[in-house]
This record gives sequence, C-alpha cells and structure tokens, in this order.
Amino acid sequence: MSEAQSLKAATAEEAEQLRIKYLSKKGILNDLMSEFRNVPGEMKKEVGMRINELKTMLNDRINELKDSVQSQQQAGDDLDLTRTPYPVRLGTRHPLTIVRNEIVDIFSRLGFVLAEGPEVEDDWHVYSSMNFADDHPARDMQDTFFVEAHPDIILRSHTSSVQARVMETQKPPIRVICPGRVYRNEAISARAHCFFHQVEGLYIDKNVSFTDLKQVLLLFAQEMFGPDTKIRLRPSYFPFTEPSAEMDISCHLCGGTGCSFCKHTGWVEILGCGMVDPAVLEANGIDAQEYTGYAFGMGIERITNLKYQVKDLRMFSENDTRFLDEFTAAN
Ligand code: PHE
Repeated sequence: MSEAQSLKAATAEEAEQLRIKYLSKKGILNDLMSEFRNVPGEMKKEVGMRINELKTMLNDRINELKDSVQSQQQAGDDLDLTRTPYPVRLGTRHPLTIVRNEIVDIFSRLGFVLAEGPEVEDDWHVYSSMNFADDHPARDMQDTFFVEAHPDIILRSHTSSVQARVMETQKPPIRVICPGRVYRNEAISARAHCFFHQVEGLYIDKNVSFTDLKQVLLLFAQEMFGPDTKIRLRPSYFPFTEPSAEMDISCHLCGGTGCSFCKHTGWVEILGCGMVDPAVLEANGIDAQEYTGYAFGMGIERITNLKYQVKDLRMFSENDTRFLDEFTAAN
C-alpha cells in the first residue's frame, strides 16, 4: 500500500507505464486477484477487502499523477518569457479619467469614500437644499439647462447636488468624494464648454474646523502638484458655505516667481471651499448644533490643464487620437 502512495511519474508515458504495470489485464493487481482463489475460506473476506482497497488506491494515485503531469505540461506550453510580468491594460485612459482617478485616489487615502449622483437632477438637490433662495442671483451665475416641459428638472450645474443626496441618506460622520459631469449653458470656446467635470468633497462630523479643511487641501495640493507646492486661501462667496474661500496653489511651472501661465502673479486658482453653512445642514436633516462640516469643489479640466498644459478645453471632447495618444504613458 505504501508503494502505491509513493508512485511517481514525470511524463504522461511514465504514468501510463505504471497503469499497465499495476492495473492492466496482465498487471500486478490481476495476478493478486488470480491468487485469491487459493486464500483459505476464513481469510477470504479480509483479503478481498484489502485487495479492493489497494485497487482504489492505485487507481486514485495513477489518475492523480496523470492530472499533475498534464497541468505541468500546459503551464510549460503557456510560458512566454517575453511577456510583461503584470496584467496589460487594453486601450488608454482619457486624460480627464487619469486625473479624476488620481484625485479620488488621493482623497481615498485620507478616508474619503466615493459617492455619485444623477446628472439629470431636480431643483431641490442642485439649488434649494444648497441654500439658494428662489430668487437668489447665484442661480443665474450657474447658467442652468432646464428640461422644457418640466422646469423643476434640470441638468446639474455643479456636483454639490451629490452632497445633498449623501446627507439625505447617511448620518454623520460623512466623508465622501464625488466626481461627476456637470452642465452649464455657456458658448463653447477654448476656455468654456457646456459640460465639464467636477470633484466635490464633503466632511461632516463633530468638531470639524476650517483648520482641518486647510490641512487636507494642502496635502492634496502637494500630492497632486509636488511637495514644494504652497497654497493660499482667499475669502469668497458660495451660498452653501460660510465662511467660503477660493484656493490658489503656487504656480508649479515657474515655482511662484511669475510667468505667463500664472499671469505673473505666481499663483493659480484651483478650487472653491468653505465650512458647510448650518442652513444647508438643517435643510438636509443634520443637526447643526451637534455637527459641523467642510466642503470643497474643483474642476477636473482645470486641474488637468495645470498638470498637462492643455490650452484648449475643446480638445477634451473632440476624440482626436493624436491628442489622446499623448497620454498613453500617463496611464
Ligand atoms: N459648487 C461650487 C462650484 O460649482 C464649488 C464648491 C463646492 C465650492 C463646495 C465650495 C464648496 O463652483
């Protein structure tokens, strides 16, 4: 029996030889079977059982050897030493996808979770819940596309609507990063388009402060544009944040000394941010006495322009492969 267990075969032929030796008509097992009639009556049962056991064992072991020899051979046939050692991704990513993934990746490492919402929205999620009064002039600032027969249904003009959708369904602590496409009724030119992409961040918990916001944004800027990047926050206005700020980073082309790219100021604007207005928390069912939060939003096209100096926004949606091919290495 131990002989059966220790049988070895390196090739399919060797395994077949073993089968012939032990299990064929002229094999050892059959010899044993023919001896069986000479076994005294009282031992027949015991010996019969033993022979059967041996037969099963030999069968199993030889089949096992055949299988393993076969799979080794297949692996050998497939072995191509010229192949790259990691999975190859087919196609190339669009530059906006590359930058979007990079932004999401940086914030994921800080504990932000991905959240997405619909592009066709209602007025509540885009404006009212974000503290835009009905006659608020900021509604005009956003150049909204309306669905003609349903003035309440619009194409979202910013990803802040995802904030509302998250607050509606989740309890604090909330820490989400929301990338998505947004639409504004603007004439298409090198510097404006009727659709573009944003990433919105939202963090709500007890004792969240402006310092937290500033620190997270500094970390983001340095991860995205290099460790020497500086940031500065300028007071600004958004209906849904108070206080609000716009953030500039030191121009990474001239290092802050001034060049034509940063219009000789040494700084370039990259995002809007602020502490979530308590009115927004309350409108979305979160107790503003207990919780505070910050939000920020940036245009992915803008960040991509800064990283890759794409001069004309229209390049992003024209599907010109000469342009897209330039990003293969950045994948
Ligand atoms: N929603 C703003 C915009 O579209 C950006 C923003 C988001 C500003 C979050 C502050 C906080 O311009």
